[in-house]
Amino acid sequence: MPKLLVRDLAQVVSPAGREAPLRGGALREAELIERAYVLCEDGLIAAVGAMSDLQPLDGDVVELDGRGFCAIPGLVDCHTHPAFGGDRVDEFSLRAGGASYEELHAAGGGILSTVRATRSAGAAGLAQAVERHRGWMLRAGTTTFEGKSGYGLDRETELASLRAVRTAGGIPTWLGAHATPPEHDDADAYLDFILTEVLPEAAPLAEAADVFLERGAFDAVQARRYLEACREHGLALRIHGDQFTESGAIPLAIELEARSVDHLEATGPNGVAALAASGVTGVLLPASALFLGRPMPPARALVDAGAAVALATDFNPGSAFCESLPLVCSLAATQLRLSPAEALAACTVNAAHVLGRADRLGRIVTGYAADLTLLDAPDWRHLAYHLGGDLVAAVVKDGTVAWSRPAR
Ligand code: NIG
Ligand code: FE
Repeated sequence: MPKLLVRDLAQVVSPAGREAPLRGGALREAELIERAYVLCEDGLIAAVGAMSDLQPLDGDVVELDGRGFCAIPGLVDCHTHPAFGGDRVDEFSLRAGGASYEELHAAGGGILSTVRATRSAGAAGLAQAVERHRGWMLRAGTTTFEGKSGYGLDRETELASLRAVRTAGGIPTWLGAHATPPEHDDADAYLDFILTEVLPEAAPLAEAADVFLERGAFDAVQARRYLEACREHGLALRIHGDQFTESGAIPLAIELEARSVDHLEATGPNGVAALAASGVTGVLLPASALFLGRPMPPARALVDAGAAVALATDFNPGSAFCESLPLVCSLAATQLRLSPAEALAACTVNAAHVLGRADRLGRIVTGYAADLTLLDAPDWRHLAYHLGGDLVAAVVKDGTVAWSRPAR
């Protein structure tokens, strides 16, 4: 494999240092090199520096012209739901007219309508859907994505979802406890079924388990039962929590040493303080809050209190039909009052930390994976500034160009 030299970049920026997760003031310390190059070799970053320090290279070298572009680490989306069939555009239109997400969910729409469409897609249809969604993410600058199951809720479709995520290059999370499907009497009976019939086969396919701990979904007792069983099978733990109500997600995440608690739109000051004092990362999903017209999570308070935070899209057909981390960074700057540097760290190295990969993903430093997103901008902060812009010029994954924008 030839070396790849990305040369004459306007800027290269990377979150500070080598530690993870970054917290507090360290989140703001982006390391910047002007008029820079990045050299990739064997899928890793071999060197990064100023063009004036670039030494002649031997061997087979492919060059990529970075003039007018800035390189940021390939974006890491640590929370997506890409394994679904159909869409929810009808529901979206009803919500635009005033219906609430929770009402539609309670009436058998919402998540359960996507469950019906996902079951009828079949394994091949599901694989195609995840592949398509992965392409959207890549073109938005995402080089690594986590993908949850959770729209099958039967054995076959949950396993097919995990396989589809893995085949598309994603990191699979088993969201078996997303909702209770109609063939089970209640949430406890459904948990009996998935923990006996699905977990043993889901565990080898997934890296983590996730549960929707919320009024109308699973309560804290049920979430604990699900997560403890998943932990026994070697899975890392995640929780969808505090989306609509504070129902005990943060204390449970801390007690079980979960990797993350995600959403946090309903989190109050006690939750902020508890999370900040813990090793659990708070995953902020502002596209979901925007899409549902919900309050934004208390991001500024979390960061100021010293919490580890990550940013993700929550890409899914119901609450966040959005695959763009650059758009999420714009929301972080305008709605969450995070600086561009805080937003960058939150969707690169801190997101990689949530996925257990901060030692190799989310920074542009020697020895890390050669995953780069090239922004068509004179200053990397356009990542947050160019709201909904056509910003991503090219994406490098493992040292090769995985996508580049057609010439205009
Ligand atoms: O993260 N809140 C739970 N799950 C998803 C949405 C699922 C859906 O509406 O289809 C979320 O927002
Ligand atoms: Fe989600």
